[in-house]
Amino acid sequence: MQYRAPRGTADLLPADQKYWRYIESKALGLCRTYGFGRLDTPVFENAGLFLRSVGEGTDIVEKETYTFEDRGGEWMSLRPEGTAPVCRAYLEHGMQNRPQPVRLHYFCPVFRYERPQAGRYREHHQFGVEVIGDADPSVDAEVIEMGWAFMASLGLSGLSLVVNSIGDPDCRPAYIDQLKEHYSRHSERLCSDCRTRLERNPLRLLDCKQPGCQAMGSEAPRSSECLCDACQEHWDQLQAYLAIIGIPYRVDHRLVRGLDYYTRTVFEIQPAEEGGQSTICGGGRYDGLVEQIGGKATPGIGFATGMERMVLNLKRQEVDVPDEPAPRYLVASTGQEARNAALDIAAKMRGRGVGAILGGAGRSLRGQLRQANSLGVDYVVIVGEDELASNQVTLRNMLEGGQEPMPVDRLLGGLEGRRD
Ligand code: HAM
Repeated sequence: MQYRAPRGTADLLPADQKYWRYIESKALGLCRTYGFGRLDTPVFENAGLFLRSVGEGTDIVEKETYTFEDRGGEWMSLRPEGTAPVCRAYLEHGMQNRPQPVRLHYFCPVFRYERPQAGRYREHHQFGVEVIGDADPSVDAEVIEMGWAFMASLGLSGLSLVVNSIGDPDCRPAYIDQLKEHYSRHSERLCSDCRTRLERNPLRLLDCKQPGCQAMGSEAPRSSECLCDACQEHWDQLQAYLAIIGIPYRVDHRLVRGLDYYTRTVFEIQPAEEGGQSTICGGGRYDGLVEQIGGKATPGIGFATGMERMVLNLKRQEVDVPDEPAPRYLVASTGQEARNAALDIAAKMRGRGVGAILGGAGRSLRGQLRQANSLGVDYVVIVGEDELASNQVTLRNMLEGGQEPMPVDRLLGGLEGRRD
């Protein structure tokens, strides 16, 4: 039997690493300028954490978590999203006693048993940020602006930002009733999933992708028109702030997101072609989440971006992503004596912080030069048996052509203070 990576997972090959490192470096720069500290949480958590936060009626919890009983008889889930673990850690480490809000970011693998397709995997990776401990709409604006600035810093274009307010536990029940009434009137036209949603999670009716259900969605009552006074004020203020910042956004009353913990603000950044199906960045406010998992009432807001989807869009848009720096030197040698010396010279070069790889043993000098060409190194240090006697090497410039003999000491001396 030949093993393959499990369905819906992918190996991240060396040729693709540059995209990931590029995104990470932009994300880290962003977090530095916006003041977000890093938090890493375990790959698995108690299953109850996600049940209580993401919500029992959601696809993620009902159909997609990788949940297992461990050998001690405890139920665990591989992380299906990053926000609940961050809130759990916030509580566990007493971060509510620090100056609020606390700003955190993370990079993590995420597991969802979904039907794999382009841009949808069973293991994907997220970069996310969370601001916990401040309910002010200016924080919403700041977080949305951060997501938008992140996309711009990557060089992605043609994206759209959609925003909505889905109210809070005060005003949402009345809205849900209106929604149910609307959909019940034509329940025979609903897809089978939506018939279940009508009972279990009516908000999700709005983002069904089936044409029949979509048509009903466009005529459905709008959450942003059913807000209580406090949510209305928050929503108005957020829109005023977004106008001040000057980022282009569209209100989409069908944007509800797939996790139960959201309150008030929800938003997504979508690529031009496929819209919501391939959202690159999704987030929102979750003012009840910390309390739901055992803390005192604490507001929060954040977003997460899918690494694989960002890579997909960087490639599609042919964004010029810098190559990973490769070693600049190859040390070629012929014969055992020379190889001994080459090993020593390469180690000394690396000790000076300069990238150097050994030419392949058993290859002719010509073969090693070909190898140097295909690796794209700038220089080849040739260690020959004859030159060894006088402690000399030949330095060949692969960019400009030409070569010159020089003592090993001069070669190494010339590298002092250089860092590749
Ligand atoms: P989410 O929308 O479920 O939100 O996921 C965030 C992002 O992860 C999506 O916008 C998408 O780019 C990527 N993503 C999701 N599922 C997959 C998949 N199966 N394959 C590839 N990429 C995927 C959350 O997870 C929330 N925790 C975000 C958040 C943070 N809300 C507040 N704070």
